[in-house]
Amino acid sequence: YSEIKKLFRAPQDYTGKTITVPGWVKTVRDSKTFGFIELNDGTFFRNLQVVFEEGRLENFKEVAKLSVGSAIEVEGQLVETPNAKQPFELKATRIAIENMCPADYQLQKKRHSFEFLRTIAHLRPRTNTFSAVFRVRSLAAFAIHKFFQERNFVYVHTPLITGSDAEGAGQMFKVTTLDIVNPPRQESGKIDYSQDFFEKETSLTVSGQLTGEAYALAFKNIYTFGPTFRAENSNTARHAAEFWMIEPEIAFSDLRDDMMLAEDMLKYIISYVMENAPEEMEFFNNFVDKTLLERLNNVVNSEFAHITYTEAIELLQKNKQNFEYPVEWGSDLQTEHERYITEQIFKKPVFVTGYPKEIKAFYMRINDDDKTVAAMDLLVPGVGEIIGGSQREERLEVLEKKMEEMGLNKEDYWWYLELRKFGGTKHAGFGLGFERAIMYLTGITNIRDVIPFPRTTGNCEF
Ligand code: 4AD
Ligand code: MG
Repeated sequence: YSEIKKLFRAPQDYTGKTITVPGWVKTVRDSKTFGFIELNDGTFFRNLQVVFEEGRLENFKEVAKLSVGSAIEVEGQLVETPNAKQPFELKATRIAIENMCPADYQLQKKRHSFEFLRTIAHLRPRTNTFSAVFRVRSLAAFAIHKFFQERNFVYVHTPLITGSDAEGAGQMFKVTTLDIVNPPRQESGKIDYSQDFFEKETSLTVSGQLTGEAYALAFKNIYTFGPTFRAENSNTARHAAEFWMIEPEIAFSDLRDDMMLAEDMLKYIISYVMENAPEEMEFFNNFVDKTLLERLNNVVNSEFAHITYTEAIELLQKNKQNFEYPVEWGSDLQTEHERYITEQIFKKPVFVTGYPKEIKAFYMRINDDDKTVAAMDLLVPGVGEIIGGSQREERLEVLEKKMEEMGLNKEDYWWYLELRKFGGTKHAGFGLGFERAIMYLTGITNIRDVIPFPRTTGNCEF
C-alpha cells in the first residue's frame, strides 16, 4: 500500500508507477463513461484525486454509485497533472469496494455545526476540521516530549490514583470499591475507609506536581505528561473533567527560571507545529481564525509580557466599566479579566506574578511581603489562563505553618514535607493545560472540540 502523504511529499518517486492506495471516499462525481473520486486515507490532510473510466474497470457501474464514507482500495498509475488544481491524479485500473456506506451516514458533504459533531464524536475525526485538530494535537504532544528530552529532562509517570489533594482545592473524584449506598461506617457514623481497597480514602489526581517534586529533587529536571481529573462543576468552554497536563519541575531554580522555561516551551511547540502541519495550520487560518498564523508568528518572534497581580488589579479597576464582575485586591481574576489583560492591554501572552497567598495553593513560596506568593499564571489571547506555576515553598517551618493555616492534615503529606528536610533546595515548576494549548494553537474556542471524547459536567457518552 502507498500512503497519500508520501505521494504529496515526493510525487516524483511514484509517477508512472502502479500503486495501490486504500482509503475513504470523500466525494464522487461521474458522467456516463468516466468519473472522479476524492480519496482520503487519513495519512494526510489533502485528498488524492482518483480518475476512473468505463473501459478500464470491470465494476465501473458499481464504482460510479459509490457513496460518501465508503471504504475502497484503488490500484492505478499516478500521473502528473501540471495544469490542474491538484498536482497529480491516480488513474484507476482496479477498485475494490470494502464497504458501501449507507445513505443514513451522518457525515454527508455539507457543513456541520461543532455542536452536532460532538454528538457523533466517534465519527468526527473524519471531517476536515477534526482531522486537522487531532493531527495537531498529536504533533504538539510529540513536540513537548522533544523539547524536554532535548534539554535532558526525565519523563516521570506520576500516579493517577492518589491519597492526597495536590491542589488542596477539594475538586477530586473519589475512587472506591465500597458500596456507595450502604458503606461500612465507624461508630462515629463516618465512612470506614479502612475497609476500602487501599484501606484509606483515595481519589483521581488533580495534578502530578507533588510526586513530580520528589523526582525533581532526585533528577534535578523532570516533567510529567498525563491525564488529570477535576470535579469542577463549571460548565464553561475551557474546563473539562478529564484533561491532560504537562508539569515540568526544576530544582535549583526560581520563578524567573520557571517563566523562561514556560516561554521557551510554548514557542517551541508553536514553531514545531507550524513547521510540521502547514496544511492543517493554513486550514485553521482560513476557516477558524483569520489572524491565527500572524498571531502565532508574532508570539514566536517576540517576548512575553510581565505584570504583577497588584498592577493588573489597578489596570482592571481603571477599566471596570468593561466587566461583569468587579475586582479588588485579594479577589481571583475571572476569565473576562484575564482575557482583557492579554487581549486588550498587551495583545500577546502575559505572565501575571505575585498573587495574594489566600487565593493560591498551599505549596507556593511566600514572598518577603508576607502577602503574596511566588506564583505565575500565563494568560494568552483567546483562551485566558493556559499555564499556572510557582516557585515552591522549600522552607520546612514556613510550609508547615501554611498548611496548618489552610487546614490541611500534615500527616497526609509527611513524605512531601520530608523532601524539604532531606536535601531540600529552591525549586519551581508549572502546569500547562494541554487542551488549552491546542485551543491556542488552532483557534478552536471550545475545549470539547480539542479532546477526542470530552468529559464535562453531565457528559460521558463515549
Ligand atoms: O493552575 P493549575 O490548577 O495548576 C496546577 O495544577 C499546578 N499543580 C501546576 C504546577 O505548578 N505543576 O492547572 C494548570 C493548568 C491551568 O493553567 C489550565 O491550563 C489547566 O491546567 N487546567 C485545566 N484545563 C482544562 N480543564 C480544567 N478543568 C483545567 N483546570 C486546569
Ligand atoms: Mg491555575
